[in-house]
Amino acid sequence: MIIVFLGPPGTGKGTIVSELRKHIKIPAIATGDILRDAIEKETNIGKTAKEYVNSGKLVPDKHILRIVENRIKEDDCQKGFIFDGFPRTFNQAQGLDIVLHKLNKQINQVFYFETSYNTIINRLSARRVCLKCDAIYNLIYNPPDIVEKCDKCGGRLVQRDDDREGIIKKRFEVYEQETLPLVQYYQEKSILTKIDANNKNVKGVFQEFWERLAELELISNSGS
Ligand code: AP5
Ligand code: MG
Repeated sequence: MIIVFLGPPGTGKGTIVSELRKHIKIPAIATGDILRDAIEKETNIGKTAKEYVNSGKLVPDKHILRIVENRIKEDDCQKGFIFDGFPRTFNQAQGLDIVLHKLNKQINQVFYFETSYNTIINRLSARRVCLKCDAIYNLIYNPPDIVEKCDKCGGRLVQRDDDREGIIKKRFEVYEQETLPLVQYYQEKSILTKIDANNKNVKGVFQEFWERLAELELISNSGS
């Protein structure tokens, strides 16, 4: 199964991916996580990406496509994977189609998690992430048991550098300009499913997503 999670910053893509992975052991390829890791390790791609990520701009397509192409060729991806936050431009979507075609694979479905700008601001200004295991929390909607500590691994919880209000606004503008057109791109291919991620808690969003997966026969009724 190859699925894509599309949607604005803060809509809950990473949160739903980690819920899904409790049920299905499938690798998630989150380009944002890969880039943040590279920035922290100060690799060549990390050095290039830092300025883009911290200012809310997109990292150039050629770097992203190279990262993704290498990643999906790894052994753990042979039975499928979830893209979280990729593709995000028309060029990335087309590049992905070409790479998948070469590998004789195709996207099964694209899930578009729809959310309003106000919800995004609320969610992202209260988000905290674990420095050690990348777990996602929210001070209002999903707080950790102990302040600033990850429930899962005890790692330190921090605010992402790009979760400041000015940068969130920039990320949303970039999203509307560069990524939103992909909704139509995948609609025309008849592989787009919309999920209401605005008016429900995580459990409700996940339930709708899970029901759509079952309807599309991407999971069996019993689970995976
Ligand atoms: P990336 O890391 O992908 O960030 P994003 O797309 O902006 O999305 P987020 O991770 O901010 O949000 P999310 O949808 O995962 O929400 P989450 O589950 O955390 O990208 C970062 C940067 O990297 C980009 O700006 C760009 O520079 C670069 N980049 C990455 N990919 C790239 C690409 N393909 N091309 C070029 N550049 C790229 O949830 C958010 C918060 O809400 C959490 O606190 C969570 O607990 C809470 N929450 C979630 N769901 C709910 C709910 N239903 N109700 C209440 N709270 C909820
Ligand atoms: Mg995310």
